[in-house]
Amino acid sequence: MKKLILALAGLGIALGAVSASAAPEDDRLKVVNYLKNKYPDIKVDDYVYGALAFSPDSKAQYDSIMEFPPFVGVIDQGKKMWDTPFKNGKTYADCLPNGGKMIVGNYPMFDEAKGKVVTFEDAINACRVANGEEAYKYGGKEMDVLTTYARTLSDGMKMNIKVDSPAAKKAFEDGKTTYYARAGQLNFSCASCHIDAAGNNLRSEILSPVVGQATHWPVFRGKDGGDIATSLQTRYVGCFKQVRHVPDKEGSTRFNNLEYFHSYLSNGLEMKSSVFRK
Ligand code: HEC
Repeated sequence: MKKLILALAGLGIALGAVSASAAPEDDRLKVVNYLKNKYPDIKVDDYVYGALAFSPDSKAQYDSIMEFPPFVGVIDQGKKMWDTPFKNGKTYADCLPNGGKMIVGNYPMFDEAKGKVVTFEDAINACRVANGEEAYKYGGKEMDVLTTYARTLSDGMKMNIKVDSPAAKKAFEDGKTTYYARAGQLNFSCASCHIDAAGNNLRSEILSPVVGQATHWPVFRGKDGGDIATSLQTRYVGCFKQVRHVPDKEGSTRFNNLEYFHSYLSNGLEMKSSVFRK
């Protein structure tokens, strides 16, 4: 604990003011321009590699792992789940838009009829329930394994989150508030580490920038042995805990709104699932 506080103090983070209500595109450009100014030699597109964008050595290691990923077996399992028809004979491809292909970059989306943010995982569950199957838990093993494959069907699509109505804007602002709120015993916000200190070292890790972070889920982490899929919102839980902040559960309205804001900041960047992370 003491070590973590010292490491955090070493980041020298400024107290950034948060503007109350700007257009989502202003929010995104502000962060992108901040990164461009701070790291003029790094292409914004390369932030899909997260912390690896700052470290050619780690990127080279990543490239060799991705050539023969130790987790192909899990993705194959996900494909089997995807291809197996429901008891009524229908499949995911029958009920998701465009057969489930090239759609992940549209999620999370604001569903005007439901009046709330819908994640890709929610869309999968809606499909299951409509076909008489039980919903999976977001962050549970089945959903994680299924999405390692389902999300690959959108590889190459660009993130394309839309905020089109006042209700959608409200959900976006709620996610933004969570992102910038200082909380927990250490009084850090997500932005403290992933905007202000992006590219800096925190103990043995380089901090990735928020831009690009939403494009490549689930991930397989070396620390888990390299073959356990971790969803984006499960990663949120980990980062909340890291700063001694009580996390929400995956799939909560707060986390869905956070994912909506968080994903918007990756707009225009290419999707690629599933990838290796430290
Ligand atoms: C004390 C610093 C710190 C804070 C605060 C923090 N994180 Fe992190 N986060 C890290 C570290 C360290 C990693 C692993 C290295 C990396 O990829 O940045 C990480 C990784 C991540 C990743 C995975 C990136 C990838 O490409 O695999 C996501 C997503 C993320 N954090 C989101 C958040 C969110 C959302 C919050 C606010 C709830 C948050 N983090 C708060 C330190 C922090």
